[in-house]
Amino acid sequence: MKIAVLGTGMVGKTIGSALIKAGHEVRMGSRTRGNEKALQWVADNGAQASEGAFADAAAFGDLVFVATKGDATLDALRAAGAANLEGKVLVDISNPLDFSKGMPPSLFVCNTDSLGEQIQAAFPAAKVVKTLNIVNCEVMVDAGRSSAQARGTMFVSGNDPAAKKLVTELFLKPWGWDDVIDLGDITTARGTEMMLPVWVRTWAATGNGHFAFKVVR
Ligand SMILES: NC(=O)c1ccc[n+]([C@@H]2O[C@H](COP(=O)([O-])OP(=O)(O)OC[C@H]3O[C@@H](n4cnc5c(N)ncnc54)[C@H](OP(=O)(O)O)[C@@H]3O)[C@@H](O)[C@H]2O)c1
Repeated sequence: MKIAVLGTGMVGKTIGSALIKAGHEVRMGSRTRGNEKALQWVADNGAQASEGAFADAAAFGDLVFVATKGDATLDALRAAGAANLEGKVLVDISNPLDFSKGMPPSLFVCNTDSLGEQIQAAFPAAKVVKTLNIVNCEVMVDAGRSSAQARGTMFVSGNDPAAKKLVTELFLKPWGWDDVIDLGDITTARGTEMMLPVWVRTWAATGNGHFAFKVVR
């Protein structure tokens, strides 16, 4: 499949490389074509990898991963262009983290709204699926990375059941997420985005970012 990955940070690079490894063609998007980090990622990932501006990547992809800085995500998607996102599944990994007052970050939207919902509202013709935002990027693409003994639970949120099923079957299961809970529509992203304050404090307390949350029932 042709896939766009919007974001040149550690998430974009890790997801992009995992998608290439799975046989997909991936175009990494950033604010400007020829972004140094994107060019390096292309050089490291071979002929199936390419890069371009957010709009080039979104136009290329039949499906789009959103891995941009949370407070820039809506701007990045506007730059990608609504027409290039129309009808496409948007896998939103971004978190509404506000670092303006230092560490630990707070959430710039929470409780009665979420970044996932803001994306869906701004791009109603796209099918937003919020997932993977509750783990470190290396754990995203390898659920066994957090522990050889037990894997965590992954959540999906979104208004389109078929889009959530596709994301679960095509990406989450192959990446080792064998316990996936469909929380419901995109408003349920409030819950997973609000797990970030717990994630950040667990990381600070243990010094280990390779962990996952497990729902035992
Ligand atoms: N790090 C993790 O393991 C992890 C885990 C779970 C969720 N997340 C979430 O995943 C997202 C990506 O995280 P990250 O650490 O990989 O990268 P990041 O540093 O949070 O974001 C990098 C991307 O954001 C874009 N960006 C920054 N400012 C922008 C602006 N003003 N307008 C448009 N785009 C802008 C950058 O574009 P340019 O390339 O043009 O500079 C770059 O592609 C974040 O929302 C984060 O909260 C991260």
